[in-house]
Amino acid sequence: MRNTLVLYESRYGFTKMAALQAALVLGPGKCMRLSEFNDNKQEWDLIVLLIPVYYEKLDEGAVENIKNNLDRLKKGKIVLFCTCLAKEYAKRYLQPVSELLGSCVIFQEGIAGNLILNQLDQEDRGKTTSFFKSAGLKKQDYLCFDQDWYVETLLGIKEWKDNPTKAMDEKKILDFSEEFLINHDTCSLSTGYGKRVRATPIEYRYKNGFLYILSEGGEKFANILLSPKVSVAVFNEFQGMNRLRGMQIKGTAEIIETGSEEYREFLAMRNLKYENVMRLPASLYLIKITICRIEFLWSGFRDMGVDVKQILTFSNPSK
Ligand SMILES: Cc1cc2nc3c(=O)[nH]c(=O)nc-3n(C[C@H](O)[C@H](O)[C@H](O)COP(=O)(O)O)c2cc1C
Repeated sequence: MRNTLVLYESRYGFTKMAALQAALVLGPGKCMRLSEFNDNKQEWDLIVLLIPVYYEKLDEGAVENIKNNLDRLKKGKIVLFCTCLAKEYAKRYLQPVSELLGSCVIFQEGIAGNLILNQLDQEDRGKTTSFFKSAGLKKQDYLCFDQDWYVETLLGIKEWKDNPTKAMDEKKILDFSEEFLINHDTCSLSTGYGKRVRATPIEYRYKNGFLYILSEGGEKFANILLSPKVSVAVFNEFQGMNRLRGMQIKGTAEIIETGSEEYREFLAMRNLKYENVMRLPASLYLIKITICRIEFLWSGFRDMGVDVKQILTFSNPSK
């Protein structure tokens, strides 16, 4: 699993906030000011740089620190962000630094930031007045930050970051995943719609890329009816950082018609007689989850010489 160092500079707090959010989504890792980037020997797989723009230029102190640490920064892959109001100029703003960092930069973008006039110190308050005038801008607060866009952008970077550097053969990941799923029977099923989220501890069975869950009803069904996307966690009790074993599954849920062939087949798999189930005081409804993706974190992978987190995508479920 790749580790991430988030480095930033910030005069009025926006870039710091954006950096902390990046660290939250892209962890494990650390977040610090560029000026605090000290000389320990720790190596980072991914470095995220966030540099604010003041008066049409990247923060000079940040650029100086980047120049002074060029060799260390270039050991990993780099994501480069500037915070500014004019996001459309981001490439131009970032150019001097992206040239210095060269091919290590895997992604660069502008984050439209905030400018709140009464936060500015006296010097900047005076300078911005003439800056606004010359740029033809109104003298007012600017709140340009788009939280949704930023989180989606960070998730895109996370997707890259989570791709194992040492990946196991897919067939083997599938075998280990199936073994794990077959040897467990309880999961946490997460469903959600709009502002409503629900995690349900529940028994499941696994077969051929699908999870099956029998249930009498409840809020999870309300969510599934409105949004079939679900997430399932199956995990061992925590026994220490070197004995981690658990998986997060993404999938699509559907409700199988009671009495259908598939419903009956599932009952047979559970050694349940259809007639007996029909005689129960409450109906049992069957949820079928088509697995799209498994993220399997298992300390045991490390002993096999591959990354501790392996990812399996199901493009074509078997049945
Ligand atoms: C003094 C000052 C000058 C700025 N100059 C520019 C600029 O030239 N171009 C731009 O797109 N944004 C400009 N901005 C907007 C900032 O880049 C944006 O507010 C950023 O979020 C500031 O980061 P900080 O809160 O971490 O200091 C300026 C902001 C300030 C406070």
